[in-house]
Amino acid sequence: MNKNTKSPLWAGRLAHKPDADAYAFQASISVDKRLVFDDIAGSRAHVAMLGKQKIIPAGFAAKIGAELERIARELKSGKLVIDDSAEDIHSFIEGILTERLGDAGRMVHAGRSRNDQVATDFRLYLKRTVPQLQNELAETIVTLLDRAEQHLGSIMPGYTHLQRAQPVTLAHHLTAWCCGLERDYSRFRDALDRLDACPLGAGALAGSGLPLDRAAVADALGFSRPTLNSMDSVADRDFALELSSACAITMIHLSRFCEDIVLWASEEFGFINLAEAWSTGSSIMPQKKNPDFAELIRGKSGRAAGNLAALLTLLKGLPYAYDKDLQEDKESLFDSLDTLSACLRMFRGMMGSAEFNVKKMKAACCGGFMEATDAADYLVRRGLPFRNAHETAALIVRDCIEAGQRHIGDRSLAELKKRSKLFEDDIYRALKPAACVKARSLPGGPAPREVRRQIRALRKRLTKKV
Ligand code: ARG
Repeated sequence: MNKNTKSPLWAGRLAHKPDADAYAFQASISVDKRLVFDDIAGSRAHVAMLGKQKIIPAGFAAKIGAELERIARELKSGKLVIDDSAEDIHSFIEGILTERLGDAGRMVHAGRSRNDQVATDFRLYLKRTVPQLQNELAETIVTLLDRAEQHLGSIMPGYTHLQRAQPVTLAHHLTAWCCGLERDYSRFRDALDRLDACPLGAGALAGSGLPLDRAAVADALGFSRPTLNSMDSVADRDFALELSSACAITMIHLSRFCEDIVLWASEEFGFINLAEAWSTGSSIMPQKKNPDFAELIRGKSGRAAGNLAALLTLLKGLPYAYDKDLQEDKESLFDSLDTLSACLRMFRGMMGSAEFNVKKMKAACCGGFMEATDAADYLVRRGLPFRNAHETAALIVRDCIEAGQRHIGDRSLAELKKRSKLFEDDIYRALKPAACVKARSLPGGPAPREVRRQIRALRKRLTKKV
């Protein structure tokens, strides 16, 4: 073993130590150092309980508590820095305590294992940081809803199979995105509810024979309860899986929205004009203005999906209870959380500053015969069975194509009547894109009044949560 590295916590049993390369291979400090303040919080609660329960002398407990507080302060001010050659964050903190307090420091690990310690630290970290991510998510939804509110009447094509299908509004489209993001928000909340149990006291796997007070520790750390079963506490990581999945799902949502944006930003669509500050150029093509941010968010969704797959695979074959494999759980979830947080910020900036080309969106509603369903519905209202109405409208579309016309309304009433006597003069009004949208006022539909209601409902759900 490298002479520079401190003796590991488990050195007593083993006469031979790993060489520096092997030691570094199994160390986790580079990843778990971000848990440092959670680790200190866990130790403080544990030590206070040890003192109260008279497992260690009260005076020692107070001394250790005060030292832990000092260590936290020094880490924050930079007076103390984390030693990257420590095995993990738990060893680092216990090492400093022992260095400074001698025997008192050596008392801190009574009734505790790094197995329940790391499970606790990880959950504390998530309880602290996931709400910040939820705020990012909520702010992103609000940004989109604000944009939607400005475009309740901005008509655009709705697509299926990426073919023009039926007219909708930009507000309807943006609100659709928000519905997905709002469910993502609640997925995080659900996961937080389930992980809100404190593993400390589970020990290595079988709890402890010492008279620990698990409920007091859980309470001091702000958990709503201690975990139920000590083996489960150190063996399972389903909370990490749930959060990794929530991150992946949210990233897949963002990725799909970004795909819309990339399409809209193309010359072919021309629906969106991204701010110059949210675009990039080309090193060779002087004219280029690329939607790189949207592309990169779309690209990074692969990472989040990969992290979820990695975690599922990690857990798949593990015997109960703790296995060192579990050390690999944090890096992938941290990466997913960091990636999502950054993507939400970028997405928000990009969408908050984008300009929509509502004229082009409206113009795109002519051509593609998106009014054909409304022509069929017109006939249904006049008593024709839908299948017949569908056939009639389809034949009229064929007539239009043959005649080089781009809209059913381009045909004369006489021509329309040749296909069905039920057509009257009011058909022309019914086929206008704005009328098609207005008619779709059912709950969920694109009619401006209805979308306003959807926006209000989403805002209400968010204020209840945030
Ligand atoms: N670094 C370890 C992890 O993240 C801490 C627990 C180590 N426990 C053990 N028995 N080696 O999982």
